[in-house]
Amino acid sequence: MKTESKNMRPIWFDKDSETVKVIDQRMLPHEFVVAELKTVDDVIMAIKEMYVRGAPLIGVTGAYGVYIAAVHSKTKDDLISECDRLKAARPTAVNLAWAVDKVLDKVLKPETSQVLEKRIDAAQKEASEIAELEAENCRKIGEYGLSLIQEISSRKEGGTVNLLTHCNAGWLACIEYGTATAPMYAAYQNGIDIHIWVDETRPLNQGARLTAWELGRSGIKHTVITDNAGGHLMQHGMVDMVIVGTDRSTYTGDVANKIGTYLKALAAKDNNIPFYVALPSSTFDWKLRDGLAEIPIEERDPDEIRYVQGSDQGVIRNVLVPPENSPAGNYAFDVTPARLVTGFITERGICKATEEDVRRLFPD
Ligand code: MRU
Repeated sequence: MKTESKNMRPIWFDKDSETVKVIDQRMLPHEFVVAELKTVDDVIMAIKEMYVRGAPLIGVTGAYGVYIAAVHSKTKDDLISECDRLKAARPTAVNLAWAVDKVLDKVLKPETSQVLEKRIDAAQKEASEIAELEAENCRKIGEYGLSLIQEISSRKEGGTVNLLTHCNAGWLACIEYGTATAPMYAAYQNGIDIHIWVDETRPLNQGARLTAWELGRSGIKHTVITDNAGGHLMQHGMVDMVIVGTDRSTYTGDVANKIGTYLKALAAKDNNIPFYVALPSSTFDWKLRDGLAEIPIEERDPDEIRYVQGSDQGVIRNVLVPPENSPAGNYAFDVTPARLVTGFITERGICKATEEDVRRLFPD
């Protein structure tokens, strides 16, 4: 892959220092900063303040958080309560609880749980395995999603395939390849002419800052647009397919993703444009049936709306946009109902956003 995603991951375990390192995504694309996570509080802060973000990466960070908790916890009970704190760091992405519980289960097995060193080793090994699993799942999502892009390209007789994506569901969010971006990289590598409309994704601009940065480094044609431009482009035949990621999807097909995703799905439906959601199975919530009623939606600091961050002649600054005293509401995610989703692209293949079809792919 002609990007750093093969060599550079957004999180890694540094064997020499035995610490966990992450790319501090708050600073991209203007500064490349690496942060070291040494304590459970560091991990919680990195997740809450979004040094790391994106569902699979939040999960992997939580998994390494269990390793760090194992290093610092003298007893099993301490470890369990540290894991509860980790799981509460952000509410919407189900990957966090999934990954923390997966590592904790391994650590608490009778053969490891009695000895501190064994607990630490088991946690580190399992966290690294989850990171590898997510990278591999994203690679497979790319392979399956490629067929959808190939189909459009053939229909257009090799003409440019215009894809639209929201937020950043790229390798920065997912260890490697990304979810929504994996089929784009696969298409690009297969010589398909693609162009990506990148929603800027207010308030934190993950699209403009991160997706544009990733695609640019890979040489993929892209254009950053305002969050409100997608409907207009769809009405004028300028979007062939929408692909987004998700933070939590019910097994019945409802999808929670970055705020504004629902409006893109509505516009896609109105214009008869396929709207696909790419996700690894770690993002399915197997307990929830009704996404709208049951998925917790994070509300974040209103200052993220009131201030915009950017580079001012090489210096990163925050500037105030609305009147000083105007209140702001920062809803971080919304739920797109299954009826607006054309299909899921998963590591096991493509399926409809219905309980029946999801269970067909994931009977286990
Ligand atoms: O608030 P963020 O940046 O963590 O939100 C991320 C998203 O909404 C992504 O689309 C989602 O996590 C899918 S990442 C593969």
